[in-house]
Amino acid sequence: MIDPRLAVIDTRLAGVRRIVAVTGGKGGIGKSTIACLLALAAADRGLRTGLFDLDLTSPTDHVILGAPTGFPDEEFGIDPAMHAGVGLMSLALFAGSTPAPLRGDALTNAVLELLAITRWGELDLLVLDMPPGLGDTALDAMRFVPRCEYLVVTTPSTVVRETVRRTLRLLKERGAPVLGLLENMQVGESGTAALAAEFGATVLGSVPRDDALEAATGDPDALRKTAAAAALRAIAPL
Ligand SMILES: Nc1ncnc2c1ncn2[C@@H]1O[C@H](COP(=O)(O)OP(=O)(O)OP(=O)(O)O)[C@@H](O)[C@H]1O
Ligand SMILES: [Mg+2]
Repeated sequence: MIDPRLAVIDTRLAGVRRIVAVTGGKGGIGKSTIACLLALAAADRGLRTGLFDLDLTSPTDHVILGAPTGFPDEEFGIDPAMHAGVGLMSLALFAGSTPAPLRGDALTNAVLELLAITRWGELDLLVLDMPPGLGDTALDAMRFVPRCEYLVVTTPSTVVRETVRRTLRLLKERGAPVLGLLENMQVGESGTAALAAEFGATVLGSVPRDDALEAATGDPDALRKTAAAAALRAIAPL
């Protein structure tokens, strides 16, 4: 049986001009940070921007942006919470810091449900913050939101590059469009260019290691002033 929510998702996303998923390999490489900075940069350029935290087990975009949790407005669907010029949807809006011990079908259901209930309206850009790895949620998002473009975050670490390589292989197998690789926490020369070349992908550029990010967490205006945000603005594929 076809899940009726699949048809609803198309309607919900019908007014969204462009969807960019921020993905990568391992956890902790800065996907959420880059997704939040990208959403802020887009909103600052006057684009109508949404940010969807697809990390259902450990959502953090509301923490990075300092968005309060609490049940969003509801009327034939749920409006994303407007914060710092960005419309945010996250499981954390509903669950706060309560753990959501989801697995298997329950995860797929949560992704479907959030996609089906969120009223994004007219958007120029919807940023999807993907969970680490290639688990259920990442695969579900690829399936349910087929017109995503992928921004792939990597770092100067050999270990991270190996996990990113797997992601790039999967995206290639599925014929998913890759906007390019973004090297986060850049410290010097690295193997990012070689990795991009393996897949005929572009290197969008790099965002330096920036220790000011920690103190700016939860404060969008402070985030905007960081060197990391400035570097991202210069290379953001908007
Ligand atoms: N360019 C940077 N310089 C310094 N610290 C950074 C940088 N980018 C991210 N960080 C820090 O690294 C930590 C992990 O970042 P983040 O949560 O964005 O990673 P993630 O890839 O989304 O992780 P997960 O896969 O677990 O969701 C955070 O504390 C963040 O502030
Ligand atoms: Mg994250």
